[in-house]
Amino acid sequence: MKKFISFGIALPVAMILVIWSCGTDSTEEAEVPQVYSFNPTPYVIPDVAYFPKNLNIPSDNPMTIEGVELGRYLFYDGRLSGNTSKDMLMSCATCHVQKNGFEAGMDNPRFINGKTFGLPTEEYPEGEPTPNYMLPLVNSVYNQNGFGWNGFINESNEYRGNEEFNVPATKEFHYKNIESMVWMSITASHEMNSTIEKSVAAIDAIPMYKAKFKAAFGTEDVNYDRISKSIAQFVRSIVSYNSKFHKYLRQEADLTAQEKKGHDLFFSEDADCFHCHGGSVLMTTNEYFNNAKDKSFDPKEKNRFSVTGDPMDIGAFRAPSLINIELTAPYMHDGRFKTLDEIIDFYSEGLVYSDYVHPLMKNVRQKGVQLNDDDKAALKAFLLTLTDNELIQSPQYACPPELVKWNGQASVN
Ligand code: HEC
Ligand code: HEC
Repeated sequence: MKKFISFGIALPVAMILVIWSCGTDSTEEAEVPQVYSFNPTPYVIPDVAYFPKNLNIPSDNPMTIEGVELGRYLFYDGRLSGNTSKDMLMSCATCHVQKNGFEAGMDNPRFINGKTFGLPTEEYPEGEPTPNYMLPLVNSVYNQNGFGWNGFINESNEYRGNEEFNVPATKEFHYKNIESMVWMSITASHEMNSTIEKSVAAIDAIPMYKAKFKAAFGTEDVNYDRISKSIAQFVRSIVSYNSKFHKYLRQEADLTAQEKKGHDLFFSEDADCFHCHGGSVLMTTNEYFNNAKDKSFDPKEKNRFSVTGDPMDIGAFRAPSLINIELTAPYMHDGRFKTLDEIIDFYSEGLVYSDYVHPLMKNVRQKGVQLNDDDKAALKAFLLTLTDNELIQSPQYACPPELVKWNGQASVN
């Protein structure tokens, strides 16, 4: 129960848990032998004012406290890459770093021993860079509109596996949801550059996991399906609602006059950010837009058009959530902007017209919304109220102390 205390709503949650767990049967009936009882505790996403009620939790992967906890361990365990040698460890947390709002928050990160992102291959002995910059994992449980910068991971996708990485077209290797990111991260040459077999074998060989798999899934068996489900449960548990802005909405904090001015600019036609990044407390619509960065587009670019084939989507990417934006530079899918000042200058006077610009970039003909220096400073002050310091310090999402040495940390160049 202790882990809910940081939410400040320990008692109501505890009560819900008690009520719910009394009424719920085992979630994995098919797998559980009847000789002992398997009773994991449901994990409840906190019900916070103004946050969506509709959660993206697949029916075959209900969240449990034990599943989330196992997922946290696996998320931080560089041995998931199938490697045990110190200079080859890559975990989800190598790239998705808590103190950076679960992005890397750095440009061209390198492993401490000098290797770049992506484990070394023959072609890239120093490691292969990821095609795009990162996306944060925060509030993914509220996203119903596809994952990845172009939304290519979507519930409507068929099972298709991946021949290149020797991944069969079976049920667990899908391109549908957060679960999919696990096999993709393990096998992608620009990420862990491993195989499912190596990964499962490495985790299976670690004695402390046996009890955790049993607590989460009823038996000690380690398999890929369980690994992906538990990591996805942990990712879904990462919810952010304690920024100053969110507290202001709940009347638990005040904005300064300058922050309030920036807030009003953001949520009005004056700076005109809210159409794409507002709409809800998530600070994103999770929709895809061409936000007027470029004149022409490489037909091979993996933008939204590559997923939908709709010419309106040429050059379009998902508008990311701006929660914790202070911590997640560099910005845009290609990391072209390094600072919030550069971003604000871009939307103010740097827009580039093309036939594909989204109609909501209403001021593209004037190159932007034309903010003066005071407006720019106010808008920036508002963006800085979106940082959730409780999230980035919460032990609930942190690396378990016993895994620090297995995490595989990267550093700036
Ligand atoms: C080498 C760095 C790296 C590693 C390791 C990594 N990721 Fe990522 N992750 C990324 C990048 C880059 C993206 C953006 C992908 C794109 O181009 O759309 C991303 C995107 C995601 C997304 C989509 C977020 C969204 O809102 O669409 C999820 C979920 C995710 N990663 C989960 C994981 C999990 C789980 C692991 C571990 C099994 C992992 N990642 C390991 C770099 C990494
Ligand atoms: C027409 C929709 C639209 C409008 C209006 C818009 N944005 Fe964006 N924004 C996007 C999209 C799409 C991206 C991602 C584009 C990419 O990566 O290529 C983005 C990216 C960003 C990023 C970088 C996020 C990251 O994690 O890399 C910031 C910061 C940002 N916008 C702030 C703003 C501000 C401030 C305003 C108002 C001045 C604004 N946006 C107006 C669609 C929009």
